[in-house]
Amino acid sequence: MINLLVVIASVRPGRVGEPVANWFVPIAEADERFNVEVADLKVLDLPFMDEPNMPGRREYTKEHTKKWSAIVDRADAFVFVTPEYNATPAPALKNAIDYLYHEWAFKPASFVSYGGVWAGARAVQALKPTLTQLSVMPVPEMVPIPGVAGLIDEEGNFQADERHEKGAATMLGSLAKWSGALETLRQ
Ligand SMILES: Cc1cc2nc3c(=O)[nH]c(=O)nc-3n(C[C@H](O)[C@H](O)[C@H](O)COP(=O)(O)O)c2cc1C
Repeated sequence: MINLLVVIASVRPGRVGEPVANWFVPIAEADERFNVEVADLKVLDLPFMDEPNMPGRREYTKEHTKKWSAIVDRADAFVFVTPEYNATPAPALKNAIDYLYHEWAFKPASFVSYGGVWAGARAVQALKPTLTQLSVMPVPEMVPIPGVAGLIDEEGNFQADERHEKGAATMLGSLAKWSGALETLRQ
């Protein structure tokens, strides 16, 4: 089984990231290749990166860092559920990524990104240099959701269509392949 960590990047009250994640997570959970864990950055509530040592030394001094380190360490692959703010990632996500180093390495990642016409794609592109610096493999298959505001119903649920469903299935297939291929590098 592949341990898949789904990271909810937005921490705003009323965030769309939560209903989007609530749509995606059961799809991943229904896929027998994956054990799914969700890391909600709003719940984790990491402060601005406050470790005195370089993350690569793995000499963490704060309990919140040790907890986050254990979560990322046990993952084999990542899906970031992410908005874009001013064409870049939500700051809580960049902050959470910067906390750690070795825990990310040689694992594939994909994205359920959302926004207006850009569908969060600019945030994804902006995240890639950070992820590749950490030896994360961002796979090309992802789920970009344009016009997300119009897809939230009166109950606050995300209304996916066939494109989103197909995109999620293709992305999970890609993550499964890459996770297997990268396993040798992780050993
Ligand atoms: C600070 C801020 C900047 C934004 N910048 C963009 C943007 O660059 N592109 C875009 O498509 N939407 C942008 N939006 C609109 C977001 O797509 C929309 O508010 C979305 O719901 C944000 O995700 P969240 O609700 O999960 O935080 C921005 C929203 C905020 C709050």
